[in-house]
Amino acid sequence: MRGLSGKRVLVSGGSSGIGAATARRFLQEGARVVIGGLDQAEVDRTVAELTPLGEVSGLPGDVSSEADVARLVGGAVAALGGLDVLVNNAGTAWREPFLEITPDHWDRIIAVNLRGMFLVAQAVARHLVAQGTGGVILNMSSTNGLGGEADYAHYNASKGGVLLLTRTMAVELGRHGIRVNALCPGYIRTPLNSAISAGLDDGFVSAYERDHIPLGRAGLAEEVAAGYAFLASDDAAFVHGTELVIDGGQLAIM
Ligand SMILES: NC(=O)c1ccc[n+]([C@@H]2O[C@H](COP(=O)([O-])OP(=O)(O)OC[C@H]3O[C@@H](n4cnc5c(N)ncnc54)[C@H](O)[C@@H]3O)[C@@H](O)[C@H]2O)c1
Repeated sequence: MRGLSGKRVLVSGGSSGIGAATARRFLQEGARVVIGGLDQAEVDRTVAELTPLGEVSGLPGDVSSEADVARLVGGAVAALGGLDVLVNNAGTAWREPFLEITPDHWDRIIAVNLRGMFLVAQAVARHLVAQGTGGVILNMSSTNGLGGEADYAHYNASKGGVLLLTRTMAVELGRHGIRVNALCPGYIRTPLNSAISAGLDDGFVSAYERDHIPLGRAGLAEEVAAGYAFLASDDAAFVHGTELVIDGGQLAIM
């Protein structure tokens, strides 16, 4: 991918699943990477796995906390000598019927997936404007930000919010040379989805993949990482304020 070599990249939620695959992809492209993640041990494990590929370090913290985000972004800037790309990827999800969602559960999903996305994006955008070099911010939404999957009202609302946050940031930050886009993956095989599917039998999951995804399978974290790499690269120099859907055709079904 053009223009990624030497780029200074922060991947929030980079310790697992899509984020870890993305950190790996950027390292393979010659970028220098800092990953975030909620769990210190998981961050350390992923950094150890990725270290043979290039320059990578990790900073644990909760993206819904202003203090943790200040540590994450400040630490990444210090480690890399500035920033060029934010992969704003951290997020959480669980199934819960609309009629049973408690206010606490609602607040937690919104705090991580929407407030967290805002806090990290704003801190990085402020740094990029002060740095004066432009840059790229990629926000993780979902096909659940474009359609209302049952049992995910809080998650769907958070991911829909990410799309309008992305468009508004694009409108305001374009004049600073900061490109902002969102990703909308469909059903991707990751630890998050394994945890959600743990209570379902294998037959349900394979029937879901067959009936709801025209390509007939779940996506791979590496296939989403490729989308992040494209959007961060110079090949996407005029792609701004939009979203890239990576869903095996799921949204194409009527
Ligand atoms: N897996 C899918 O099918 C799918 C589809 C669309 C969008 N997404 C989104 O992709 C992103 C990554 O999901 P994944 O499937 O790789 O999940 P995952 O559970 O494998 O990874 C989630 C990452 O986010 C971090 N994280 C979670 N809560 C955090 C918090 N409060 N503070 C800081 N970091 C936190 C975790 O530590 C981990 O690094 C999420 O935003 C998710 O909503 C996933």
